[in-house]
Amino acid sequence: MLNWLDSAVFYQIYPISFFDSNGDGMGDLKGIELKADYIKSLGVNAVWLNPIFKSPFKDGGYDVSDYLAIDKRFGSMDDLVSLIKAFKARGIKVVLDLVIGHTSDKHEWFKKSAKAKRNEYSDYYVWTNSVFENYPGIVRGLYYRDGSYLPNYYASQPALNFGFENVDENCPWKMHYTDERLKPLRQEFINIMRYYLDLGVDGFRVDMAGSIVKEGWGFDGSNLCNDAEDGLQGVKWVWNEILGALRKEYKDKVFIAEWVMPQRSVKTCGFDLDFLTHDTPPFNSLYRYEKGTNLEDTDYFVRGDNYFSPNGKGSLEDFVSYAEYLYKALGDKGLFIAPTGTHDEVRMPTGKSPDMIKTIFAFLLTVKQVPFIYYGDEIGLEHDFTLSKDGGGVRTGARTPMQWTDGKNRGFSARKLTYLPTSYKKEQSVESQEQDANSILNTVRELIKIRKQYPALNASSNQTFIEKGYPAVFERSNGEQTVIVIVNPSNQTLKKKVSYSNVIKMQNAEISDGEITLNAQSFAILLK
Ligand code: NOJ
Repeated sequence: MLNWLDSAVFYQIYPISFFDSNGDGMGDLKGIELKADYIKSLGVNAVWLNPIFKSPFKDGGYDVSDYLAIDKRFGSMDDLVSLIKAFKARGIKVVLDLVIGHTSDKHEWFKKSAKAKRNEYSDYYVWTNSVFENYPGIVRGLYYRDGSYLPNYYASQPALNFGFENVDENCPWKMHYTDERLKPLRQEFINIMRYYLDLGVDGFRVDMAGSIVKEGWGFDGSNLCNDAEDGLQGVKWVWNEILGALRKEYKDKVFIAEWVMPQRSVKTCGFDLDFLTHDTPPFNSLYRYEKGTNLEDTDYFVRGDNYFSPNGKGSLEDFVSYAEYLYKALGDKGLFIAPTGTHDEVRMPTGKSPDMIKTIFAFLLTVKQVPFIYYGDEIGLEHDFTLSKDGGGVRTGARTPMQWTDGKNRGFSARKLTYLPTSYKKEQSVESQEQDANSILNTVRELIKIRKQYPALNASSNQTFIEKGYPAVFERSNGEQTVIVIVNPSNQTLKKKVSYSNVIKMQNAEISDGEITLNAQSFAILLK
């Protein structure tokens, strides 16, 4: 584990919606730099920026057309250098998003790869030998080349070719991952990462990191606790080569997989971290969906038996046993991320009371994991279900502009019409929450401060769950110090005997005569 991850708290920024410095209605790198003091004031020590590279934006920038150019809407390479410098001066690391499984169909590599005549890019993407050959999901008939390409996500995102897990003599176009013809592509990505690491970037969040070798086991939604390595040889081999090359030179840099299976990404493939997502069970039992439902469900306000629901009918049982499984599988090798939300999910604060949002923050900032805060969650920004842009679909609603003030355009942009609209709730702005010591924003600041002040809350410290219902009780300990956390998201008032009354922070709770009273949406962080 990298030392600095032990006390790290990340802040995720969707750059087009953070702060517009030049009045074109879109957020940009200069804008992020101008808000460096605000980010510092939160207490976070790392930021992750969603893709900033040149892109036609058919998938929010996850369709890169040039990895070595900053998209004009965000600024220039000089702006990135300046941003890194500004953040470094404030002790904040900068992590970029690397899309490695696919490019945009407008990338020069792909344009050349799609040509009928063989050239050095012909093998950069997964193509069948003939346009008349069938394979699930392939896109046919758009180019001169006699073959069809495999998309990795949308049709405009052709899959880069890192090979297949197994060769198949009936399909000679399926190259084995060790095939020499695939080496130049791996080298391209080693060079791209090196370029940014040399510029001062502190690491990468790697998009769909498990997807790169085809027919290997990337993500296994049917069994998230699967830690067998069979079928994973290809993806392990490729990542060991890429990360192995980089780690030799760059010691303190972080490589974060978007894979949703930390036992594979971290333990098998050598990443430092991986995400859980609120769309995937059992993590969705916290607050995202009614357990057992899926993305097709449109009624996002049916909380059912989610744990952070005022009806008090949920349980942390599934989340805790999953987390315990993961920590056992990872050993001392690593950690996972339980983010407040991401650009791909319905915003956490949607439909929740400020006290519930604060209770969720208290949980996520004290439970054993590396916290990631999605921009805007700290002011309770809600999802806008009316939007769809840049291939985002329903996800677009989580990508609206940060709300800085109560004034025009929420202080996000000087332009009348912003690229994505701002929301309308006055209380969801930095300006109004700065004035209230008890606001979500100031509570988040305080909780991050507490996390830093008490090493028992570090990511590597032990965790023991004592109760998983209402209230939930867990202990964090680094051997020298023990912190007890109690949360009650329900509407009921609960009472509980406690043998320690050293209060670090409480909300809607009081202790007297060895008993804690936990009112609706309460939490207590106590020192043993
Ligand atoms: C995961 C990213 O988070 C998401 O936004 C994107 O659409 C897909 N990967 C495809 O790159």
